[in-house]
Amino acid sequence: MNTRILKAQRRPWEAPTLRPVQLTGLNKFGKRSQHNPEDQERLEGRCIEHLLEQFGSPLFVTSEQRLRANQQSLMHAFSSRYPNVIHGWSYKTNYTSAICAILHQEGSWAEVVSAFEYEKARSLGVPGNRILFNGPHKNSSILQRAIREGARIHIDHFDELEQIEEIAAQLGIIARVAIRLNFDTGYTEPWSRFGFNLENQEALDAAMRIKRCPHLHLCGLHSHIGTFILDVRAYQAQVRILAQFMIELEQSLNIELDYLDIGGGFASRNALQGIYLPPEQVVPSFDQYAEAICPTLIEALATRSAQGKPLPQLVLESGRAIVDDAQSLLTRVVAGKNLPDGRRALILDAGVNLLFTGFWYNHKVQLTRPNMGYPEETILYGPLCMNIDVVRQSVSLPPLKSGESLLISPVGAYNNTQWLQFIEYRPAVVLLHADSDAVSVIRNAENLQSMSQHDLLPEGLLDAGSLCA
Ligand SMILES: Cc1ncc(COP(=O)(O)O)c(C=O)c1O
Repeated sequence: MNTRILKAQRRPWEAPTLRPVQLTGLNKFGKRSQHNPEDQERLEGRCIEHLLEQFGSPLFVTSEQRLRANQQSLMHAFSSRYPNVIHGWSYKTNYTSAICAILHQEGSWAEVVSAFEYEKARSLGVPGNRILFNGPHKNSSILQRAIREGARIHIDHFDELEQIEEIAAQLGIIARVAIRLNFDTGYTEPWSRFGFNLENQEALDAAMRIKRCPHLHLCGLHSHIGTFILDVRAYQAQVRILAQFMIELEQSLNIELDYLDIGGGFASRNALQGIYLPPEQVVPSFDQYAEAICPTLIEALATRSAQGKPLPQLVLESGRAIVDDAQSLLTRVVAGKNLPDGRRALILDAGVNLLFTGFWYNHKVQLTRPNMGYPEETILYGPLCMNIDVVRQSVSLPPLKSGESLLISPVGAYNNTQWLQFIEYRPAVVLLHADSDAVSVIRNAENLQSMSQHDLLPEGLLDAGSLCA
C-alpha cells in the first residue's frame, strides 16, 4: 500500500465538539413539529417556568380566551344556520366553578346529571329554568327542588316517570319534562342503557303516559348518541329520527313539543388512540357539525313549517369540544430511567391520577424549552406506585433532566372531574385571564388538611403516637 497517498488523504486532526441537534423540521404530516423556541417557554405570553415556581407542579392551566372563543364559535356556527339554539354546558366535563361561570356568562345554560351538579349550578346563580337535568339517578329531594324551580327534567326510565308524577302531584305543580330516547342511528353504538327505546315503542308508551298525567307536561325530546363522534352523518340520522318522532307525537297524541336536545359528543382536537390521522385532519369543525345538522333538521320538519308551525328550539350539550383545548397540564420530570429493553423512560409528577383521559387519548406532549438533543422513543410514567400509571406509551423526546417541565394538552375535558384522589395531592388549577396578564388560582392545590377534612378519629384513636408505643 502506498503510505504517501494515505498521508495526503488524511484530514488534519480537529478537537471533538458537542453540537446540540436543533429539530425544527416537518413531521410526517407536513406540520412543523416545533414552534418558535421562545413560544415554547410561554403560554399565552406567561413564562411557564414562572407559573410553575409560583403555583407549583403539576399545574392545570386554563385559557379564558380559548374557552370563551370556543363557546362563541359553537353558538355562531349553529345560530347562523338555525333560528333558536341554546347550549347547555355539560357540567360533568369540567365543573370547576370559574369555568362554569365563564360559560354561563357567555350565555350557556347548565346540563347536570346529579344532585351535586344541580346544586352547584344553582349555587353559581343559574336559574332553575335554565337547567337541563339528565342522568339515570335523581334522588327524590333533588327532583322536588328541580320541579319547584322549573328545571327541564329529562326522564330516563319508567320508575323515574312514576316518581316525578307523584312528586308533581304532591306539590300541585305541572312539571316540564322531556324524555331521553335511545335508538340506532346506524353510525354509533346505541347507548340503550339510557332513556326509552324508540324502536320497541317504549318511548311512545312513555309519551302516552305523560300525556295522561295531569301534572306532567311533555315539552321536549332528548338524546345523546355517543361521544367523540367524528362522522357528522350520525347527527344527521339522529335529528331525522328525532324530528320524525316529534311529528308522530303531534299527529297521534296532539303533543306540541318546544325543543329537541341532541346531547353532546362533538369531538375535541385531541388524538384518540387508534386513530392514525392527526386531530386537525379528522375532527370536524363546529361549522361542519352545524352544516350537517341544521339544514337536515330544517328539512325534516319542512312539512310542519309549511303549516306555519315554528321550528323547535335546538339544544346542544357539547362538553369536550368546548373545554378540552382550553386547558393544559404542566408537569415536571422527576427522573429518567433506561428500561431493560433499551427504551428510555421518564417519571413525571403527573400521572393518570390527574390525566384520566390518558387511557384513551395520545395527548400532545411539548417541550417547554428549545428542542436540543437527539429525540428517542420515550415512555412517560406518572408518580403513582401502580403499573397502570402510564401517561404516554411512546413519544419522541430528546433527553430531559429531572426538574425540566413538559406541557401536556389538551386536557380540559373530564380530567378535573374524573381525576383520582389517590396517594398524591391534586394540584392547583389556574386561569390565564383574557383581558389582562393576570393569572388567578381557580382551584387550590390540596394539602394534608384539605384531604383529611372528612376523616374523623373516634375517641381512643386520637393519640396516634400511643398506638405505636
Ligand atoms: C347526556 C350527556 N350530555 C352531554 C354530554 C357531553 O358529551 P361530550 O363531552 O362528548 O360533548 C354527555 C357525556 O357523556 C352526556 O352523557
